[in-house]
Amino acid sequence: MSTAATAGGPDSHAIAIAAERRWAWVVIAIMALLVVMMIFTGLHWSAMPPSRVETVDVKTLHLKGEFVESNLGTSVGADGKVTVRLIGQQYSFQPQCIVVPAGVPVTFRGTSTDTIHGFVVGRTNANTMLIPGFVSTFTTTFPKAGEQLMPCHEYCGTGHEAMWARVQVMPAAEFMAKAKPGERLSCVSR
Ligand code: CUA
Repeated sequence: MSTAATAGGPDSHAIAIAAERRWAWVVIAIMALLVVMMIFTGLHWSAMPPSRVETVDVKTLHLKGEFVESNLGTSVGADGKVTVRLIGQQYSFQPQCIVVPAGVPVTFRGTSTDTIHGFVVGRTNANTMLIPGFVSTFTTTFPKAGEQLMPCHEYCGTGHEAMWARVQVMPAAEFMAKAKPGERLSCVSR
């Protein structure tokens, strides 16, 4: 194939084919890169849901186990680990206001009672889906104190845009002074 022809000349068709072929290779390269990224994050960070499947019975969620109302909120374990347990439901989070310490790893554990919800905390990397029947979990550290909004980011019905909670990031010393063993902290009554 010649690429030396002038526009509109007899070789313009061949030029067009060559250009299209080049773009096809660019698209194939982009797709290959995305597949490699998926495999990398899946294997390296175990980011794919199937590798961390933890299930929970939606029918008994409110009655027994980890996600009963009295167990929701922030707790500090005997080992000092901070865990936030929450549920999403049409159209609110429980608790509606979450307290966490700054500069300390915080593990979130959440699920949904009805449909798929999700949340992101302000401009942090705390971001997950809440899926009925499954426990979503991740650990993150909030670098500085302050209040963040936590909106639902999965369309879950007519009340979706009104579904959000607040996250209060407190200085770690202040938080630890408030936290009592066995208690569940939140800032709901504010
Ligand atoms: Cu819950 Cu959108």
